[in-house]
Amino acid sequence: MSNIEANTTTARYARCIAASKRIRWDIDEDVIRGRTLDVADNYLPDNLSLVDGLLFLTPRERRFMSQVQGRTYANVFGLVERYINAKILEISRDHRFGDQVALEALVRFSEEELKHQELFRRVEALAASTMPPGYVVTAEPNAVAQFVLGKSTWSVLALTCHIEIFTQVHYKKSIEPDSSLSPLWKDVFLHHWQEESQHAIIDELEWRREDARLTATERDGAVNDLIELVAGVDGILQAQARADAEYFIGVADRKFSADETRAINDGVLKAYRWQYIVSGVQDGKFLGVLASLVTQPQLERISGALAPLM
Ligand SMILES: [Fe+2]
Ligand SMILES: [Fe+2]
Repeated sequence: MSNIEANTTTARYARCIAASKRIRWDIDEDVIRGRTLDVADNYLPDNLSLVDGLLFLTPRERRFMSQVQGRTYANVFGLVERYINAKILEISRDHRFGDQVALEALVRFSEEELKHQELFRRVEALAASTMPPGYVVTAEPNAVAQFVLGKSTWSVLALTCHIEIFTQVHYKKSIEPDSSLSPLWKDVFLHHWQEESQHAIIDELEWRREDARLTATERDGAVNDLIELVAGVDGILQAQARADAEYFIGVADRKFSADETRAINDGVLKAYRWQYIVSGVQDGKFLGVLASLVTQPQLERISGALAPLM
């Protein structure tokens, strides 16, 4: 890296630190503020839950579907933030005796992810208190972290960059404009988005830094790792979609036909793939960074792996 490049990179980390200090928030004082969730509200916007595809659901059932999916949304973030924080702690070691501005940006990133996990545990407890028992989270955060962290750093940073970009897409395009959403839920994702905006910039900086270190052969292996990570994410989504559909059907006060049961199962899986894979890919920002790092055949390999999920 030339001196000019190093200076501009340091300046970008410095801007992340400044933004992080400016918007810093506290879980109780700024976000929850003694409030609870209201069962009369939606927990996830319709254009994320894709509930419109399930025409046979009553308005009450639609709202409950948004609450089940919203609860899963909070749980999935809590889940991925376990591995994200572990990776950030690991790569921050590279900066220990180097760029101290980059080090500070990563330390703040890590601390924020710890806070987010705590926030999502609180949200989970609040959501649980408004819903009948029987809801389950199928994946375990440390098991997921172990699987993800077993892959190359390049691929892990690619996945992380994708996640932190779609967090922003969801907030700006779906959560912020939705007036039917629970005000507390909206505040959770407003505050989360504010800190994630810095994370997405840092992910890209670290992803590019890692990319510059790799040989062409190593990068090609990392592309395979990324494809395996996406398959792993899809496995988690399939299991959670099955569990959430089963829960939704199990606690309903009426029987659904075989066709309706199938439609609920398919609808929830489609929504989860949309939320956690497709919406981030479609946004274009992630693909733009990816395309700047890989060859055309590698990009086609990744697109080919994504095609059945889109
Ligand atoms: Fe987060
Ligand atoms: Fe983050």
